[in-house]
Amino acid sequence: MKFVLASQNKHKLVEMQSILSAQGVEVVLESDIGLHVDVEETGETFAENAMIKARAVMEASGLPAIADDSGVCVDALNGAPGVYSARYGGPELDDVGRYRLLLENMRGARSRTAHFTSCIACVFPNGDAIEAEGICPGTIAFAPQGDGGFGYDPVFFLPELRKTYAQLTPEEKATVSHRGKALAVFDGKLREYLKGNG
Ligand code: IMP
Repeated sequence: MKFVLASQNKHKLVEMQSILSAQGVEVVLESDIGLHVDVEETGETFAENAMIKARAVMEASGLPAIADDSGVCVDALNGAPGVYSARYGGPELDDVGRYRLLLENMRGARSRTAHFTSCIACVFPNGDAIEAEGICPGTIAFAPQGDGGFGYDPVFFLPELRKTYAQLTPEEKATVSHRGKALAVFDGKLREYLKGNG
């Protein structure tokens, strides 16, 4: 069964594919099927945005579509960047620019606690939908460490492991991360759904 991932992000694809392939599910990027759906993420929550993206790509492709909407919420910044994680600081910034801006905005902060959230939505051509959420608590490091992963990985520190996301192997990250946890929940819900509808 083929699912389209409503994203251009290869990192997300690898993380999803490695978990869902065990169910015989093949996940492809929009670009793999010649699609580029420009969706405005107008939702106020990760769950709303994931559903908006999945529904748009399902409608454009006619295939089941999966979307992940995720971001980092920092307590000292009242939850920012949150749903704006990908757009933090404006379109001219890249991943490094965004985490540098975050470090800058954290200067002098008394608390560095934060969490990553991932909401996954899957919409089928018959309108059925599955949703799952995963959260990973951590802190914002004082300086970037590690060169794995993407996005804010070098500055998201896991106190229990004493490492940032960027210092973990992909397998380690999948075990503890927000997306890994959301995917585990999603994997179970999809298995149940396909049992009844497959
Ligand atoms: P989305 O593609 O709209 O969900 O944007 C999510 C943004 O949050 C990404 O562009 C990254 O900046 C950040 N993000 C989400 N997941 C991760 C992660 O696992 N590590 C680091 N940054 C992440």
